[in-house]
This record gives sequence, C-alpha cells and structure tokens, in this order.
Amino acid sequence: MSETRKGIILAGGAGKRMYPLTIAVSKQLLPIYDKPMIYYPLSVLMLAEIREVLIITTPQHLDAFKLLLGDGSQLGMKISYAVQDEPNGLAEAFIIGEEFLNGSPVCLILGDNIYYGHGLTKMLGEASSEENASIFTLRVNDPERYGIVELGGNNEVLSIEEKPVSPKSNMAVTGIYFFDPRVSEVAKQVKPSKRGELEITDVIDFYLKDDALKVNTMSRGMAWFDTGTHDSMLEAAEFVKAVEKRTGQRIACVEEIAWANGWIDDGTLLEHAASHGRSQYGLYLEELVSSQPN
Ligand code: G1P
Repeated sequence: MSETRKGIILAGGAGKRMYPLTIAVSKQLLPIYDKPMIYYPLSVLMLAEIREVLIITTPQHLDAFKLLLGDGSQLGMKISYAVQDEPNGLAEAFIIGEEFLNGSPVCLILGDNIYYGHGLTKMLGEASSEENASIFTLRVNDPERYGIVELGGNNEVLSIEEKPVSPKSNMAVTGIYFFDPRVSEVAKQVKPSKRGELEITDVIDFYLKDDALKVNTMSRGMAWFDTGTHDSMLEAAEFVKAVEKRTGQRIACVEEIAWANGWIDDGTLLEHAASHGRSQYGLYLEELVSSQPN
C-alpha cells in the first residue's frame, strides 16, 4: 500500500430513535458500561494501526467530542473533526472527508458499532492491506435492520440491499468498511435513496460491480453490536461488563492500546491515570505500568 490508511468515525445522526436520551447528548457519547460509546470504534481503528482519524459529528455535538478526545496527541494520534449538518447518509462521510483523506485509502467505522473477539487485530490487518474494498458480514436474526448480502452457491456475493423488506439472506454488512482512494468520487455519484440518504450499500455495490470487493464473513467467535436501540445498547454494556469482570482486562481502553502500540510511553500512561482521579479506570491504567515484567 503506497499511502497510509486513514480512519473516519461517523458519529452523526439526530439519534431520534433514542429520545429523550439523545436530546442533550450525542448517542456516540452515551456510556457502554464504563466508557463512552465512541471509544469502541476508535479502539478498533487503533488496533488496525490507523493513527490519523477524522470524527464526523453534528454541529451541536462537536464541542463535546473535542473535549473528550482533543487533537489525539495524548494518544500519539492525530484526531480532527468535521460536521455533517443533516443526517444525509453514511456515504456522505467520504465527501465530507475528501480533503482529510487527500488521496489516502480509508477505513470508515460507524460510531455506534462495537467489535470484540479472538483474531480481531489479525482480521483488521488483513483488510487494511487489501488494495480495493473490503467489508465484513455476520449472521443476524433481524436482517431487515441492515445492509444484506445475497450469496451464491460458492459463497460469492450476488447482490447487496439496504434494509430489505424481504431479505435474501441473514448476512448483515457490519459497520466497518475499507475502501481505496476512489471512494470519495464514487460517493459523489450516489443518488439519495427512498429514505433520502446517500447509502453506503450503493458505494459497496459500485465495488461489487467493479469486481473490486472482498467480503469477509466474521467467524463465530466474534461479537458485533450495532448499538442503535435501547436494547442493543444495554446488551452491549452487559457483554462488556461480563468480559471485563471475568478477565480483569478492559475492552476498548484507548490509552492502553496507544501504549501497547508504542504510541505513548509509560510516563504518558501514568499521566492519563492521574488525570482519571481515583476512578477504577484510572487505577487500571496505573496498574498496567506497575505490573509490567521488568
Ligand atoms: C447502517 C448501514 C447498514 C449497515 C448498518 C451496520 O445502517 O446503512 O448497511 O448494515 O449500518 O450497523 P443504519 O445504522 O444507518 O441503520
């Protein structure tokens, strides 16, 4: 890969399905157990070794994201921000982000998608080294809520449809997408759908027809949550709690990942620990440093 891949987190949307929770607070800043929702997709980009990230949010929530994540230097990263004025669809992220991308390949992740599981880092690394486009699918029980792929006899993708009324399979397209630098131009050609949005499925369809799409089926050992409803948010929180309590390790601890990636040193991690006061999260960061083998 000639250019380094950059990341975009789309954390826009009016969040009306979650009212009144999201009247004053962005959905992607609501808690998933012990940390704000956006830590989860951010940590996935970090595991893919993506250091330069654009967060796209609404004009009213911009300041809150900046307060939380700043310019990213505290994580050894570069984080910048852009706004999506209206919820015009996921594909608009590539148009808003065109200047930021400046010809680089991209990984887009949705601000409300959570991934966890054995082999996640390997899976991300492989997708990131793909030349063209790469997406991930997983079997779901409620296919009408998602982008759905139709598979042929040899597991080849025949079609892709957004929220089909009569789904042709149960294989949902999850909210992480790897695209080559053509994606901003492709997104500009997309016409608004019936629900008035620039659909990511139409961007994927371009790559499918161009024979430039790799579809990866996520393995059974992988957990994926789209926390777009009250129930799914609570389920994700319970999942995180169960794993963290059982293992004593935190999922999506962005400071820990930055440190493990070698992007920040022990001293910076201890500064993070101190800035979190006597919270359990702060103590966890402190222990990472003190429990290192010499
Ligand atoms: C979006 C995409 C859909 C995808 C889903 C994954 O749906 O449009 O194709 O399956 O994210 O979370 P939305 O969150 O806009 O309902």
